[in-house]
Amino acid sequence: MNLLRRQPRLLSKRSTWLLRDYLVANGDVSKPVSNPAASMSSLSISGPALAAAASVSAVSAVSAVSLVSRCTHSSFQGGGQGTGGRARRGSVTGGAAAAGGNAARRQYSGGPAPAGSAKPGGAAAAGSAKPGGASTGKPASGNAPAAPPPPPPPPPPPPAAGKSAPPMKAKKPRMKTFEIYRWKPGDQPQTQTYSVDLEQCGAMVLDALIKIKTELDPTLTFRRSCREGICGSCAMNINGTNTLACVSSIDQNESKCCRIYPLPHLYVVRDLVPDMSQFYDQYRSIQPWLQRKDLKREAGSAQYLQSVDDRLVLDGLYECILCACCQTACPSYWWNSNKYLGPAVLMQAYRWVIDSRDEATEQRLDFLKDPWKLYRCHSIMNCTNTCPKHLNPARAIIQLKQLLVGLKKKGKPQIKTDALFAGKA
Ligand code: SF4
Ligand code: SF4
Ligand code: FES
Repeated sequence: MNLLRRQPRLLSKRSTWLLRDYLVANGDVSKPVSNPAASMSSLSISGPALAAAASVSAVSAVSAVSLVSRCTHSSFQGGGQGTGGRARRGSVTGGAAAAGGNAARRQYSGGPAPAGSAKPGGAAAAGSAKPGGASTGKPASGNAPAAPPPPPPPPPPPPAAGKSAPPMKAKKPRMKTFEIYRWKPGDQPQTQTYSVDLEQCGAMVLDALIKIKTELDPTLTFRRSCREGICGSCAMNINGTNTLACVSSIDQNESKCCRIYPLPHLYVVRDLVPDMSQFYDQYRSIQPWLQRKDLKREAGSAQYLQSVDDRLVLDGLYECILCACCQTACPSYWWNSNKYLGPAVLMQAYRWVIDSRDEATEQRLDFLKDPWKLYRCHSIMNCTNTCPKHLNPARAIIQLKQLLVGLKKKGKPQIKTDALFAGKA
């Protein structure tokens, strides 16, 4: 509206459209006319065109209805007011309104006016909008030439012949060398190198190993299971560090060779598979299960409850996945693996000693009172530095030593499970 007021050039053009539509409607109300005014909601214009329209002496109610049908929600105030040419938001009191006609709001645009759309006593009173007459859809006779339909919008340009989407650019291969320890019984140990295209390989070292085994050398042997750092199977020495292949990303520097060996200082079964028998034996020796004094009385009678604070003591201990990365990074374990229990096993020993539900604390500590089993640890901290789960076995060993010499005492359980079993809690 404001735009039209500021730009009379547009206003006069608009009025011309309306006049043209008016004439067309007068000549043939059944012919739909593309009318830009229909899209101009809440529009109020005053101009010579409407004045002329309103001053047409033979304006019938049908004409008025037809006009408003294209100007729904528009309010016209033309120079023909003197003859009653006035319309407000869908109601028209044009030439017919001069005779008291009043057309109801239109829900259609263009074309014939539906029967009964003009209020009784309005256009009908002027004798033009009779039921079944022009207002019921009959084209009004007239000599006004039909306006040519507006030209259709130009079709979108067709795609150039033979032109298709640009092909995906093939990625340049990025070959990286993996040097892998190989040995099988009866052979001499050696390293074998494989070239892997990093563009065609997953991000982790385990992905590269699986790719090598699948595509290059099915005899390559290694352990893996979960491929997400929770089973501990894929522990190996990668570029000098004991870690899990499934959580170690491949160094994307292609010029650097990735060297993969089995965990050090363990016997090898084949290729990257170490013999973990001794480690498991040592783990078994600390009796890694809950021990109670009177299991017969308790079995099936109640749960072993633990307070939140007591449970928090186990954080940083229970997460160990027994991958043996720390165990095989410990120099003390390298030289005394038959006597020294090693960091992973000692950390699990502490986990059961400190558990508030366990009642075998004394026996467990007695088992560790040995110059070899525990005291071979010299706090070198290799174990803590290498743990792929970011645990701290060295701290657990120190706490075990403190318990043994009496510098620290295991607290009493905050929830007395004994009382629960006796029905006293
Ligand atoms: S802190 Fe103890 S257990 Fe850990 S690497 Fe050193 S000697 Fe081994
Ligand atoms: S403490 Fe860490 S490195 Fe050692 S066995 Fe547990 S998870 Fe593996
Ligand atoms: S495959 Fe389970 S920890 Fe790597």
